[in-house]
Amino acid sequence: MKQVIVEQFGGPEQLRLVELATPEPGQGQVRVRLSSIGMNHADLMARRGAYRLSSGEPPFTPGLEGGGVVDAVGPGVSDRAVGERVVLGPDVPRLGRPRQPGSGLSGAEGTYRSHYICDAQDTYPAPDNLPDEQLGCLWLGYLTAWGCLAWKQRLDRADGPRVVALPAASSGVALAAGQIVKCIDPAHTVIGLTSSPHKMEQLAAMAEARYDHLVVTTGTHGEPLPWHRDLKALTDGRGVDVFFDPVGAGAYLETEVRCLAQHGTVWVYGLLGRAEKVDLSPLIRKHAQVRGWALSELLDAGREAFEPGCGQILAAVAGGELKLRIAETFALDEVRHAHETMEKGAHVGKLVLVP
Ligand SMILES: NC(=O)c1ccc[n+]([C@@H]2O[C@H](COP(=O)([O-])OP(=O)(O)OC[C@H]3O[C@@H](n4cnc5c(N)ncnc54)[C@H](OP(=O)(O)O)[C@@H]3O)[C@@H](O)[C@H]2O)c1
Repeated sequence: MKQVIVEQFGGPEQLRLVELATPEPGQGQVRVRLSSIGMNHADLMARRGAYRLSSGEPPFTPGLEGGGVVDAVGPGVSDRAVGERVVLGPDVPRLGRPRQPGSGLSGAEGTYRSHYICDAQDTYPAPDNLPDEQLGCLWLGYLTAWGCLAWKQRLDRADGPRVVALPAASSGVALAAGQIVKCIDPAHTVIGLTSSPHKMEQLAAMAEARYDHLVVTTGTHGEPLPWHRDLKALTDGRGVDVFFDPVGAGAYLETEVRCLAQHGTVWVYGLLGRAEKVDLSPLIRKHAQVRGWALSELLDAGREAFEPGCGQILAAVAGGELKLRIAETFALDEVRHAHETMEKGAHVGKLVLVP
């Protein structure tokens, strides 16, 4: 088995690929030969030591999602078979789960590896039309968006069309969120906000980018643009009902608060921005709110809460309503290059490790 280990917090040079004995599945477990490990911004933060809640202390293995082919089943497993294509459940690689014997890790036992052992009941049969390299890319995008926008915000029960704005429009999560909103109800308006003027054309031409409108927030020389005007114009002055925002700070957040509609909500789910003072006073007259969102809230609520989301996502993938955009794939021994690529931020869509 090949496995990536972070021995110390730091740069991409801290990612080390090691060979270990391939473990055998125990009672009720399966071994999955991973064909797809979805990369996430959280992996970079974990490597740097900026997300200890998820990574724990080194040594640890990064990686929050994965999928592949069952290549061994343990005693007592009757509902999974060798050769079956599966997606690992969304709460499989989490800190606090029972540890794999002999892992030698003190922190997270993530999915950056060629083989993964888990309980058979923590795997989902994969839709036939989902390519092998995409089996490990579903949850951090689609379920993060579903959890916030369907489970918490209840866009599915909105008493009319809403305007939803998605910053970081080229990111894996925002692309997934745009599709989720359209799945909930195509009548909702989706506005993608990108900080990269050179990505506009690509996003406008991309079938997976379900944005009704695209707005660029930064000029070609990195200067902030007056994007509040675009949002006011696109909403006839009414404003945006829901921001689903991974920037969450400073002038960016302040502009969102300014652009909120009456009773609107800014959901902050990432830390891409730089912490600065924010004037929240417009919230008062708008009866509006800024709230935080993390996928862990849905996972902590248990299977009863997240299973409906997983079921809807798998069905929509099988039906072709949800379609992943893969920006680039990397072999496991290119993991350092993969992290450097993600750090540069020039990609559009999901970066994937393919062991
Ligand atoms: N709370 C949760 O449960 C949860 C779950 C998943 C992900 N996340 C968070 O979601 C964020 C995106 O994750 P990802 O994996 O989708 O990342 P990704 O695919 O690497 O996308 C990053 C994109 O964010 C935009 N961006 C970067 N820095 C920015 C800045 N300072 N201001 C505005 N936009 C900026 C850029 O898009 P443009 O060029 O289009 O602007 C960049 O391409 C991360 O912060 C991650 O930690 C949170």
